[in-house]
Amino acid sequence: MEQELITLQNQAKEQLAAVERTDQLEEFRIRFLGRKGQCSTVMRALGTVPKEDKPRLGEMANAVKKEIESWYTEKQQSFSASLESSSNNSTIDLTLPGRKPQTGKLHPVTQIMNEVCSIFESLGFSVAEGPDVEHDHYNFEALNIPAHHPARDMHDTFYVSDSILLRTHTSPMQARIMESQQPPLRVIAPGKVYRCDSDITHTPMFHQVEGFLVDRSISFADLKGILTIFTQKMFDKDLDLRFRPSFFPFTEPSAEVDIACVICKGKGCRVCKHTGWLEILGSGMIDPEVFKKVGYDPEVYSGFAFGLGIERIAMLKYGIDDIRLYYENDLRFLSQF
Ligand code: FA5
Repeated sequence: MEQELITLQNQAKEQLAAVERTDQLEEFRIRFLGRKGQCSTVMRALGTVPKEDKPRLGEMANAVKKEIESWYTEKQQSFSASLESSSNNSTIDLTLPGRKPQTGKLHPVTQIMNEVCSIFESLGFSVAEGPDVEHDHYNFEALNIPAHHPARDMHDTFYVSDSILLRTHTSPMQARIMESQQPPLRVIAPGKVYRCDSDITHTPMFHQVEGFLVDRSISFADLKGILTIFTQKMFDKDLDLRFRPSFFPFTEPSAEVDIACVICKGKGCRVCKHTGWLEILGSGMIDPEVFKKVGYDPEVYSGFAFGLGIERIAMLKYGIDDIRLYYENDLRFLSQF
């Protein structure tokens, strides 16, 4: 009996050392500590030992059982500790396919703005930027639009105070640059402009690119040449272009440029107001009065200027029939471009 208890203890120790998983540990418990397990068998066998050996062997059997129970508990605890630490990391399953990060895209208006700027840069124009919140002086006065001039009505201005406003066009950049630099100048000024205006071809905030070139002997032919090259690069080479006489207080003569409506192919639709043409820019030869205000001699220098509407170009380029779609922030619309 004594030898049997020693063997039982050694076997339990050996087999428990080989246990690596919880199901094996459970098998071990049933085998050694279960109701029909080896410890119970030994306990039952105590009934058959001589009376005088019973206390000693009983004590020894209890000690062996307790020892095996404590090893078992120790192993169980070490398993649950390692289970806990592995379950803390269980959110990471390295075999799962990775999640694709959502990539952002440039807004279609930004894409067109970049394209327009790079065409003019390729023609030798440098880029300048100015403030959205502007002085009445640069937005109007310096551009030959004094207070109470009827041309102010066309601009539907958002005023911040009597003399401060949200610029209604990028033309103030003509005055800002000319007063600080001497000709020859070949500059574009892209940016946001604001007007209290909204319908299918107008938004209260939109983008313009101002362009101007000042040097000796610049003529309207140079303006036509630059704008024709620009539209050919921006659109299909065969797209019709029309220079329509117009009026701006800061250019003389002035012209608005229309291109054949790509939405109806010139047949007439609601976007082109059934004319077959869509206006994309205003332009003209810089008025001598503007030159005088910045100290240029109009007898020596001449120049042209133009102001392009970027959203209008984006409408024509992508065949969009309502300008407001660009600013509804519907990703299904925006992610197409
Ligand atoms: C001007 O803003 C002049 N500063 C342009 C200019 C510059 C003329 C230099 C001469 C010399 P106009 O108001 O026509 O002009 O606007 C120019 C272009 O901006 C228009 O042809 C049109 O394409 C676009 N545009 C005007 N208003 C809006 C609007 N509310 N929403 C979207 N685009 C507009």
